[in-house]
Amino acid sequence: MTDDWANDWADLDVGSGGTGAGQRGGEDALSTSAEPGDRDVEATLRPRSLPEFVGQPRVREQLELVLTGARNRGAPPDHVLLSGPPGLGKTSMAMIIGAELGASVRMTSGPALERAGDLAAMLSNLAEGDVLFIDEIHRVARPAEEMLYLAMEDFRVDVVVGKGPGATSIPLEIAPFTLVGATTRSGALTGPLRDRFGFTAHMEFYSPAELERIITRSASILGVDLRPDGAREIAGRSRGTPRIANRLLRRVRDYAEVRSDGAVTVETARAALLVYDVDELGLDRLDRAVLTALVRSFGGGPVGVSTLAVAVGEEPGTVEEVCEPYLVRAGMLARTPRGRVATAAAWEHLGLLPPEDAAAAQTAGRTAPGGEG
Ligand SMILES: Nc1ncnc2c1ncn2[C@@H]1O[C@H](COP(=O)(O)OP(=O)(O)OP(=O)(O)O)[C@@H](O)[C@H]1O
Ligand SMILES: [Mg+2]
Repeated sequence: MTDDWANDWADLDVGSGGTGAGQRGGEDALSTSAEPGDRDVEATLRPRSLPEFVGQPRVREQLELVLTGARNRGAPPDHVLLSGPPGLGKTSMAMIIGAELGASVRMTSGPALERAGDLAAMLSNLAEGDVLFIDEIHRVARPAEEMLYLAMEDFRVDVVVGKGPGATSIPLEIAPFTLVGATTRSGALTGPLRDRFGFTAHMEFYSPAELERIITRSASILGVDLRPDGAREIAGRSRGTPRIANRLLRRVRDYAEVRSDGAVTVETARAALLVYDVDELGLDRLDRAVLTALVRSFGGGPVGVSTLAVAVGEEPGTVEEVCEPYLVRAGMLARTPRGRVATAAAWEHLGLLPPEDAAAAQTAGRTAPGGEG
């Protein structure tokens, strides 16, 4: 690992955080995507080894086996796909994979690989055993993706030189490497690409207890006087997401330093999060707007995600990838084949009386994941 580790991180997040879905407004304390204020801090707060990585016990155990097996054989491990909502630690885990293998990590992202040539240049610079990390791998352009198939399978690429009838394809050997791909939308990956990963790690939302451990660690790194009851309060409102937990910790710290003695207690946490519009469940303005539109404008649904997105003035991708995963997990929203449906819990959370069939919708949503797109 180089000394530029922190800078590499910052650069990567600048490159990948600025486009596409997963973006929210600037001052939103609950936004799941990395924002300017997060980048420097995130670099210092990232876990650096598997034991330091809190939570995701299944993924950690599985990866441990994959990596140890490969190390024992003295060969690069299978390609790894990390999938899950934003801010759950995919980038952190990719760096840890590199560190555990003692390999250097080359980083790029899907949108940066517009032409096959961009990827060919990247691949031909790899040394044996290197880890190539492609963030937002579902956004790799088609020609580059096809080149990737061959590279992943045979460690070879065919570079086409020239145009028209005179064009020739020159095979190019590349060093055996490990591809680590990260995606917030594994469903958007093409079948052939998905099949070429030997191992897919599904990152899950974190439990409040895990988030408590994460922010307690962050507080000690940042020198925040975080009390146990304050940690519990912040963890409970972080939507199962370490990035949000760390951000709320910093916002509550500001409040504690400006309005009181700097100690983050349950009282300061509650008062601060009231200011930042984060409710007891961790739902923010956009989440509540989605639920409110669903309930008030569409009678609880079912309604298509695009219609819902228009109603709250957001991109469908943001509603689908950023709001919905947590609303579904919190049992507020169900994805059914006919569209999105508010559950009884959603009506109650908004202080409304649920209609008779809302409870049934909840069950329907559970049995029919995926739904309409
Ligand atoms: N398991 C963890 N333990 C401790 N901190 C974590 C963990 N997972 C994530 N974090 C913290 O959350 C921040 C965001 O994590 P990371 O950037 O790895 O998420 P991501 O899944 O790559 O997000 P995105 O999809 O937006 O790229 C990190 O800077 C780190 O501080
Ligand atoms: Mg990332």
